[in-house]
Amino acid sequence: MSADKSFKPTEPQDMQAARPAQGTLTNAAGNSVPNNQQSQSAGPRGPVLLQDHHLLERMAHFNRERVPERVVHAKGGGAYGTFTVTGDIRKYTNAKLFSEVGKQCRMLARFSTVAGERGFADTVRDPRGFSLKFYTEDGNWDMVGNNTPIFFVRDPLKFQDFIHSQKRHPQTGRRSNTMQFDYWSLRPEALHQVMYMFGDRGIPRSFRFMNGYGSHTYSLWNDAGERYWVKWHFHTMQGVQGLTGDQAAQIAAENPDYHLQDLFEAIERGEYPRWKVSVQVIPEKDAETYHTNIFDLTKTVSHKDYPLIEVGEFELNENPKNYFAEIEQAAFEPSNMPRGFGASPDKVLQARLMSYADAHRYRIGINYAALPVNKAVNSVNTYHRDGQTRFDGNFGDAPVYEPNSFGGPAETGPQTDEPALRIDGNADRYGYPETDEDLYGQPAALYELMGRDGQDRLHKNFAGPLATVPDFVRQRFVAHLYKIDERLGKGVDAEIDALKAQPDPMLGQLLTETHTNAAKPEAVGA
Ligand code: HEM
Repeated sequence: MSADKSFKPTEPQDMQAARPAQGTLTNAAGNSVPNNQQSQSAGPRGPVLLQDHHLLERMAHFNRERVPERVVHAKGGGAYGTFTVTGDIRKYTNAKLFSEVGKQCRMLARFSTVAGERGFADTVRDPRGFSLKFYTEDGNWDMVGNNTPIFFVRDPLKFQDFIHSQKRHPQTGRRSNTMQFDYWSLRPEALHQVMYMFGDRGIPRSFRFMNGYGSHTYSLWNDAGERYWVKWHFHTMQGVQGLTGDQAAQIAAENPDYHLQDLFEAIERGEYPRWKVSVQVIPEKDAETYHTNIFDLTKTVSHKDYPLIEVGEFELNENPKNYFAEIEQAAFEPSNMPRGFGASPDKVLQARLMSYADAHRYRIGINYAALPVNKAVNSVNTYHRDGQTRFDGNFGDAPVYEPNSFGGPAETGPQTDEPALRIDGNADRYGYPETDEDLYGQPAALYELMGRDGQDRLHKNFAGPLATVPDFVRQRFVAHLYKIDERLGKGVDAEIDALKAQPDPMLGQLLTETHTNAAKPEAVGA
């Protein structure tokens, strides 16, 4: 990677040669535009005239070009593709998508970074979003995952706090190592994911070279009314490859859109990236006795106990024609589940079932599901009507209430409903830190898996940002690392000492965070 300069930005193929004008220019109503160079003015020196509605339309439309960016995962790229079923899982699910081996389905993928804004550099250390939308004959199936099998929080109440710690400091407007490590050290259930992120997989070489994971436990169910808990895995067939921090920094400086370019150009070249799709299948009853809580998003489920079953493969083979229409307006939501697919009691997943559609209504409007990129390929028959920017036929003269006697769409009945789920327990706020605590076991296993060289790189990757944060945050965070594995704690401490021993003007003057150099034990404000 280091020797080749292929990360330099290049222009799209279709901009290599000039083309003649196609059609004639009009305004939004289709009226012809005789002059698009000069505004109308009273005399050659102005002022401009209010009657120049072409100028006014251009100014007004321009002012409204941006929709709010996604509050997280704002920077991303994507493409269309084809999913092919390769394994028979009909005993677990009646989903039409899996009704026969060899079946194909058009799909959309969007990959993203999490914390930064839309103009952020692609090669930062951050998880990557891994969103898939399958346009199945039974409605859309969305799998909104990440490139890691676990997550930072296991209770949705902490999501906003966690994300705020990754975003910008309220006073300086800058991202802050102190906020990040302060939060992680106070909520150590995040450690497993943090270890992943600071390891070799923390900065993928590009979207093509990373795996994806559903991360949560989801479910599948069949006609016999049996439910299986499942974990989805999407393994890159290009091989997993990462960037070192130095490579990533160099690329970020020269080509912040490198990952978008890499995906787009590979597809233009006909080098279609592919992923294998597998599931771990866990019989419903097993969840009650398995040694970890399979609905805890900070933990993985052992592949030895529940091996991967290969079910399909997808290939990305078609670039969008228009980034805004097809990628920025793409609306993924974990609640999009055709018959045969289901959610689970995972508390974070439960919150996500609500959060995404809510975000889309705010970001792109109530009729977002009817936009071409989000529209299901089967017939959509709802009783939703009207709303801003109702750009389709609004269901014409079809009945607007249900039930009705005038031929409106009818519910599909209990045979299409998922099996009942038994739940019990008292309504309460459960968990941290009293119950179900094994915060360090899986991070320790991950550390072991990294091997000696990977461990050394992990120590260095932690030491860089940790050397910039106040002592009390660093000590609290590193104390957790000692509990994971003494070698990890010592390794990181040694790297921090080494960094501090060779004063680096950049580190001293630019990176040290002076705004939070002492703990403030009492809450400020009310
Ligand atoms: C995007 C909420 C956890 C993966 C988003 C968005 C929201 C959100 C509001 C922006 C949606 C939009 O404007 O289009 C939450 C909440 C979470 C949570 C409330 C937990 C309580 C997770 C987890 C994963 C994940 C655990 C992965 C396993 C993603 C991805 C996107 C996203 C990939 C980008 C979707 C796209 O490509 O358009 N999330 N999220 N999120 N989230 Fe989450």
